[in-house]
Amino acid sequence: MQTADTIYDNVSHLNYGFQHEEQRPPPYAPPSGINPALPQYPGPQNPQHLYQNSERYSPAQSLHQYTPQTAAVNTHHTVTPGPYLDVNPAHKVSRRKKWPIILGIVITLLVVAGVIAVVLWFYGVFDCLQGRRCQTDNECVSFSQWCDGEHNCPSGDNKTQCFRLFGSNFLLQMYSNVTLKWENVCSDGWNDSLGMQACEEMGYERSTYVGYEEFYSSASTDYMLAKTDSLSSSNLTGFLSKTSYCPSNKAVALKCIVCGQNRETRIVGGTTVTSKGVWPWQVSLQISRRHLCGGSVITPYWIVTAAHCVHENSDARDWTVYAGYLTLAEMQSATGNSVSRIVIHNFDPRTNENDIALMKLNSPLTITTNVRPVCLPNKGMYFTAPQECYVTGWGALFSGGSPSQTLQEAKIQLIDRTTCNSQPVYDRQITDTMICAGKLEGGVDSCQGDSGGPLVTKENSLWWLVGDTSWGDGCAFRNKPGVYGNVTYFLDWIYEQMRKY
Ligand code: ARG
Repeated sequence: MQTADTIYDNVSHLNYGFQHEEQRPPPYAPPSGINPALPQYPGPQNPQHLYQNSERYSPAQSLHQYTPQTAAVNTHHTVTPGPYLDVNPAHKVSRRKKWPIILGIVITLLVVAGVIAVVLWFYGVFDCLQGRRCQTDNECVSFSQWCDGEHNCPSGDNKTQCFRLFGSNFLLQMYSNVTLKWENVCSDGWNDSLGMQACEEMGYERSTYVGYEEFYSSASTDYMLAKTDSLSSSNLTGFLSKTSYCPSNKAVALKCIVCGQNRETRIVGGTTVTSKGVWPWQVSLQISRRHLCGGSVITPYWIVTAAHCVHENSDARDWTVYAGYLTLAEMQSATGNSVSRIVIHNFDPRTNENDIALMKLNSPLTITTNVRPVCLPNKGMYFTAPQECYVTGWGALFSGGSPSQTLQEAKIQLIDRTTCNSQPVYDRQITDTMICAGKLEGGVDSCQGDSGGPLVTKENSLWWLVGDTSWGDGCAFRNKPGVYGNVTYFLDWIYEQMRKY
């Protein structure tokens, strides 16, 4: 049997997820929510590490075992067109008669182009080439006005996406309407009141604000500098102006919430979680005291889960969230938290595209050592195969089983999209909104009832939410790893909902 190390030896491709290009203006989420596809990196032509034989692997120790089943057979076939005879009379037309035909084609093309131009004009594409459109009233705001601190859009949506956190050090960046790039914010003149405003503008509650640190970065960076002379203004973006001169050469690293910390007393190799606080962001989502799905705490008010968990049961009043427990039995006598709102992404149940949803709680969770948020990834964080991750939940212990009474955990690895999309694995079903993780040899996986729950990884001594459990072909089968919602891809959508509600 191959070990995980040899399996992944020739797979060094990045799981790019969705990341904005450095040079791109602040994202401007289209109403349909689906972002354009990213370039895919070519993978091995013939992945040698895929398990081709049909024998199933029986694990000695796994989170979720499987019942042997026969994998579905691909019955698709293609048809090759037969010989083609050229009987087109046009090919015999003399040179003299060609010109009217060419003229006709040109006129037709011009008419088509004209119609397209009118349609584009109607939908307001042409008249806003030098700027961006406000989400609420459709007005065009020029690039130089975007994020300049003046409310050019009626709801202020030209400033709501002017800040972002970058990398695992939480560097604060602001979109510059001068350089039309994301720039680090210089720590000279910065203070906590500005930090709180920036966190609030991104979508965090003021109450979770932690503070900021000065982060020394290389000299070649441009900075946004706080204008120290206008600190009385209540308009944060108005404070910042582009300058290449940042005397301290230090950038602001901003913490809007304490996240990603846990109690590290895990018994290594164990699959049943025996101590509270190891996965403090894990919650159980229940209807009528029945465990249906998992979820992850990202703020005291917000839970990330899977869209397929809630899209047929989208009435917030039906759901109860249980946080800080290890066994389903404990939850039976607990009160739990009621839900005030469920926000579902543009989920497609046929393809499992966009399998993510958010739950807002009626009252905030009390943060204790057993209930804590996981970190949302920041922009510029790329989780690469075969990065080690953990998946947790009360899901079935084998394909077709009932929920586990106690919380389970499994150590798995990210699988790059090319491998996961290859014919023996998921044969082109994996889109940019998904990320694969598991073991191609089988034996360890998430399963029914784990859905919506966290797939996390540790980086820079913090735990980050990489995915939400979404789907798989059976559980723990060879070449059928788990598929997770790609949280990095959904970041803009998540922050947008947290701002809105
Ligand atoms: N859809 C399942 C659920 O509702 C999760 C399936 C995950 N499957 C897997 N093989 N990893 O709980």
